[in-house]
Amino acid sequence: MLETTLSQLEASARERIAAAATAAELEAVRVEALGRKGALAGLSKQLGALPPEERARAGKLLNAVKAELEALLASRQAQFEQEALRARLDAEWIDLTLPPPGPRPGSLHPLTQIQTEIEDLFTSLGFAVLDGPEVETEYHNFDALNIPADHPARDAQDTFWLADGNLLRTHTSPVQVRGMERFKPPLRMIAPGRVFRHEEVDASHEHTFYQVEGMMIDREVSIAHLVYFMKLLLACVFRREVTVRLRPGYFPFVEPGFELDIQCLICGGSGCPVCKQGGWVELLGCGLVHPNVLRMSGIDPEEWNGFAFGLGLTRWAMMRYWVDDVRLFQSGDLRFLGQF
Ligand code: FA5
Repeated sequence: MLETTLSQLEASARERIAAAATAAELEAVRVEALGRKGALAGLSKQLGALPPEERARAGKLLNAVKAELEALLASRQAQFEQEALRARLDAEWIDLTLPPPGPRPGSLHPLTQIQTEIEDLFTSLGFAVLDGPEVETEYHNFDALNIPADHPARDAQDTFWLADGNLLRTHTSPVQVRGMERFKPPLRMIAPGRVFRHEEVDASHEHTFYQVEGMMIDREVSIAHLVYFMKLLLACVFRREVTVRLRPGYFPFVEPGFELDIQCLICGGSGCPVCKQGGWVELLGCGLVHPNVLRMSGIDPEEWNGFAFGLGLTRWAMMRYWVDDVRLFQSGDLRFLGQF
């Protein structure tokens, strides 16, 4: 009699354990079957009424059913826990390759970074950092630099003219003039800034780009001084051995004048769009300040002389960071700019 009840109870509990859809349903089955006031507890109370030999057999059977149901419950319980864990992991899954939430850390524009380094170098050498207007007078941009109106050198720096006769400066050299007008020699200055040219844009030419001008006026300044400062400058910016060549270059405001080229760091000299397949990239113009320029700014060339240089900061950035298209710097593309 007890055995039949027990086996019915077991069969029904098994079915309900298998059918339980939630942990709560499973718990209800456990309480009903195995709880202190549950079905098995009720049956075990009836054991006392049985004759001793039958009681032992029925007791064993009851314990076996209890153990079996407990095991079934535990394994079903473990299944629910697994499913709950999986659901939680699915819900809490994060993609570690995504950028973290919140504001992105910013960085200085690569041109600003190099400009700052050049400023730090030259201020440590006793140079002042001067600023000048981007809208310049024709006098400061050309005439005072020994480039009169009919001079062919004006054609090489075609620019944007304003209706009032002023122009967008084609180089930072007018700041030399403003520096000399304002300060008496001895004078050491650099002038970083934005310049403009009416130029066909390609991989290495922009219509709007950045230069850094430099000038030192003192007594008995020589080309050796110029070369010394240029070597310091190159070592500061490129932080490695670069192959340079100095060749005669014509700028009306220096005499003698030079072009300083470096072997293209993008292709190593074998030829690429940046060096126009030539293997060398023109990095700066320099020379000893022409006596006419000193005189026009009220400095006596018999007493003073000096050197001047002007570098294309944008080109320097291309070389330093191996960028093969100048247009990227002003593209505003944060995927590009975020790399620096
Ligand atoms: C000048 O602008 C002179 N003022 C430099 C100078 C100063 C010479 C003082 C002597 C004494 P140039 O036109 O070569 O020179 O330009 C200087 C540098 O600007 C070049 O070497 C080149 O690196 C860079 N540059 C010229 N045109 C462009 C352009 N369209 N886009 C980007 N960089 C340019």
